[in-house]
Amino acid sequence: MNDTFLKACRGEKTAYTPVWIMRQAGRYLPEYQKVRGKVDFLTLCKTPELAAEVTIQPVEILKVDAAILFSDILIPVESMGMKLEFSENKGPILYDPIRDEIDVLKLKNIKPEEDVPFVAEAIKILTRELKVPLIGFSGAPFTLATYMIEGGSSKNYINTKRMMYQTPELFNNLMAKITDVVINYLHSQISAGVQAVQIFDSWAGILSPVDFQGFALPYVKKIISALKSKYDIPVIYFAFNGSTMLKLVKQSGADVLGLDWRIDIADAADAVNREVSLQGNLDPCTLFGTKDLIKARVANILNSAKGAKGHIFNLGHGILPETPVENAIAMVEAVHALIAR
Ligand code: CP3
Repeated sequence: MNDTFLKACRGEKTAYTPVWIMRQAGRYLPEYQKVRGKVDFLTLCKTPELAAEVTIQPVEILKVDAAILFSDILIPVESMGMKLEFSENKGPILYDPIRDEIDVLKLKNIKPEEDVPFVAEAIKILTRELKVPLIGFSGAPFTLATYMIEGGSSKNYINTKRMMYQTPELFNNLMAKITDVVINYLHSQISAGVQAVQIFDSWAGILSPVDFQGFALPYVKKIISALKSKYDIPVIYFAFNGSTMLKLVKQSGADVLGLDWRIDIADAADAVNREVSLQGNLDPCTLFGTKDLIKARVANILNSAKGAKGHIFNLGHGILPETPVENAIAMVEAVHALIAR
């Protein structure tokens, strides 16, 4: 087993900087398109053999140091009782969005072994077949709440913020319910065999620091302390667009903080006092540049990260569907070729 990734999460010395890519199983890979051509996205998530197959593809093609379970953050939301659909051009749609007390009351906690048995099954196949660690994941409560309240993606998150500001108690009840679901969901992934987990807070960056601290952070803290009280595995917290709030983000208790590309990793390491490892943070659009440019940007990040407690190389957000595969491969090769840590 290649455990470079796990060592870097814990801030231990590694022979090279480990690398994986958010959304590494996805549409930029012809091999993924081939499988996806036969089934819709949700069926792919819910068929363990197929989910396992597309999870392994990028590990073999790109030679990354970790795999991430193929699924979606909205899968447990469907189990809470909301109808979920992925439309080809509009992204996720959740029907009958949550707007009042009755809507919140109707939401169920989940029983992972009954509601999402395909998740543990895919994990079991993967832990048998993979030679790199498997990362499990969940959406963070705030990000999941935005989808549940808006009914899908949003520009200004007015419905979410209206609920936060007008009926904070209702919003907090919703967040508490989602938090219980996330704890159950991640516990089940860990007992099935994932070796690290990442909490995706894709929309944390729409919040001011004071609102992040009041409405989002307490729930992430609760999740991480619940996991840490039972299991000794690394937790990565990725608050996208959260670089201006890193001191708060660090209070989550995560072992590793994910970074987008808007901050120099050396400045991030200073902001967190070198007390947690860092993951990131190449602009995903760099992969549309020349191979020389990609190498130069990789070198720049590796150099900036020298003072961090630990560093896992990644993009600053998910890889884009239009990305040339050969450039993703060139990025991974450049990370591996450059310096030992
Ligand atoms: O990283 C991986 O390889 C694991 C798989 C994974 C997916 N979604 C597969 C996916 C992970 C970790 C996610 C997380 C996820 N899902 C997030 C958090 C990460 C982030 O990007 O900030 C969010 C916000 C979602 C919700 C979601 N799922 C959206 C907004 C979309 C549509 C966007 C798009 O690119 O079409 C999805 C669909 C989705 N999730 C796809 C994949 C591979 C594309 C589906 C397809 O094959 O058509």
